[in-house]
Amino acid sequence: MLSTILLSFLGISSATAATVYLAGDSTMAKAGGGSGTEGWGEFLKYSLPTSYTVSNKAIGGRSARSFTREGRFQAIADVVKSGDWVVVEFGHNDGGSLSTDNGRTDCFGDGAQTCSTVYNGVAETVLTYPAYYKNAARLFLAKGAKVILSSATPNNICESGTCSWGPSRFDYYAWLAASQLGGTEAGVWHVAHGEYAAQAMKKLGTATVNAHYPNDHTHTDAYMANVMAGSFALGLKCGTSALGVSVTNSTSSLTSSYGPCISFNSTIPV
Ligand SMILES: *[C@@H]1O[C@H](CO)[C@@H](O)[C@H](O)[C@H]1NC(C)=O
Ligand SMILES: *[C@@H]1O[C@H](CO)[C@@H](O)[C@H](O)[C@H]1NC(C)=O
Repeated sequence: MLSTILLSFLGISSATAATVYLAGDSTMAKAGGGSGTEGWGEFLKYSLPTSYTVSNKAIGGRSARSFTREGRFQAIADVVKSGDWVVVEFGHNDGGSLSTDNGRTDCFGDGAQTCSTVYNGVAETVLTYPAYYKNAARLFLAKGAKVILSSATPNNICESGTCSWGPSRFDYYAWLAASQLGGTEAGVWHVAHGEYAAQAMKKLGTATVNAHYPNDHTHTDAYMANVMAGSFALGLKCGTSALGVSVTNSTSSLTSSYGPCISFNSTIPV
């Protein structure tokens, strides 16, 4: 107690205190999908010790591109401190075609490809999803933070009456970006959240899953947001990051709710 007071007087926080910043879209944001919905970022704190503060900077409608253009990654980089964590999770708004540019679609490709567009009367060079992920991660790494590059939660995989899932190119790109940055050695981890979330939905079954998408097939209610957060916590726990080690829930409690650890298949999905 005395040492904590002394350390805080000296401006030194205790060893494990850290902030986990969340950068993402409506599926992660507080009430991101409108009335009756909740984003999974609001539930992550329940899987972490109270020494962690979860700062949910996710905002609806954003892609890796628009989060970049609006300076939202930079705003996190401006406040993130050494020892903090940043979780980056996009994908729901990154697809589509640039022929009618909505300001969110990324340039198609897995690397340094660029596309030229004019959005809102402003000429813009659009990058690929992995390029935006890597640029964002580099901002945080430069500040001494550690980075989790995550794939997006899928839409409701059970809406047809049968739960089925296959990876999209974005599931692969999230892994690719982490790998190209140097992976865990470089302070960058990948969570296959899309696949973990799909596995959790299959375990719950069609009736339960369908009951927890109140408005559409993208945005969950609070119950399902907790499932999404739990499947993310499982993905962390199954990995090698110190954040995963900090997850308070036991591996057995998470696997009994959400399924086993997954070994990521890094073959490019067809
Ligand atoms: C993790 O454990 C906390 C604390 O017991 C609990 O509130 C939370 O619901 C658990 N989360 C999951 C995803 O099981
Ligand atoms: C990995 O993914 C590829 C492409 O989707 C698929 O053909 C292959 O069977 C998968 N391998 C395993 C071990 O699941």
